[in-house]
Amino acid sequence: MPLPSNPHPIVSAFSKSLQLNDSKHKGEKKTGLQKTIQVLGWRNRHSQAENYPIEIKSPKEYNFQVKQFQRGEVEETYGTGATVWPAALVLVKYLEHLVSQEGSTAIKTFDGHMNIADFGAGTGVTSIAAALLFPRSFVLCTDGSDVVVELAKENVKNMSSKKCEKEEDDIVQVESSNILTTKYWWGDGSLLVALKKNKGSGAKFNVILVADCVLPKLYPIIPLIDGLDECMSETSVAFCTYEHRYYPEYDPKVYFCHHAAKRGLKVEQIPTAHQHPIYSVDDIELWKITRDHDHDGENIC
Ligand SMILES: C[S@@+](CC[C@H](N)C(=O)[O-])C[C@H]1O[C@@H](n2cnc3c(N)ncnc32)[C@H](O)[C@@H]1O
Repeated sequence: MPLPSNPHPIVSAFSKSLQLNDSKHKGEKKTGLQKTIQVLGWRNRHSQAENYPIEIKSPKEYNFQVKQFQRGEVEETYGTGATVWPAALVLVKYLEHLVSQEGSTAIKTFDGHMNIADFGAGTGVTSIAAALLFPRSFVLCTDGSDVVVELAKENVKNMSSKKCEKEEDDIVQVESSNILTTKYWWGDGSLLVALKKNKGSGAKFNVILVADCVLPKLYPIIPLIDGLDECMSETSVAFCTYEHRYYPEYDPKVYFCHHAAKRGLKVEQIPTAHQHPIYSVDDIELWKITRDHDHDGENIC
């Protein structure tokens, strides 16, 4: 498997030395080491940068960057929303991986023209990527923090080819998709109103994206489940990335699944083997959330 383009110099050197010693490594050990190197290559590569660069490879190649604000968390201005988190990258690259699997059922399900909501979008990186990956879609890029919404708006506007005629300040065209960047506090009812206002009264969300928002130390989990319950129709699919972090009071994953099940939401874990071969790691889980039609309550935990 190749390294991400332009890896850190130390990673390149380490990788080169590993290749030179190939014959000394047994297959599995080498694969494990290579995977570790690849993860080192992307995980915190640009976390301190002023602008975080992203490469999208499907359905076309795009390179874009989002502005970050480094001291947001420390100064309690932007909270955690002003930088791109590794879990966002895992989600973006999983979606890219889905789109690149042409001919598979995945691409037929997610073939563009979709209504997509991005919860707790932070810099807006997942929304921008979704707009590029799923042509002719309508993306609602949302966050609960006013200043974070302003940052996301700026990043989305930097991508725009032309302004959309409706609500010209907040909806921008990104390639063939439109992105509306707006404040949404999970479960407050405003997002469905915004969707129906722009796409008609029968409009529903096809996909909901949630990157790194299961963080009970900082944000209560129940409002996030309220938001999902509020916005998910019978056919919606939510993709949620969850990074394991130490939380002594309870297991956030068990808690999330338990409360999701109470609302008729089924949480399934997408194995790393089905994710992007490079941008997947054991401590960042990817969940697929749907309405539990079978009522089998078979959540991942
Ligand atoms: C760790 S950041 C993740 C940002 C981005 N998704 C990423 O992964 O790069 C969590 C985000 O959730 C937002 N958030 C927290 N609680 C929220 C709530 N109740 N309603 C809406 N947004 C919320 C925060 O403002 C923050 O931007």
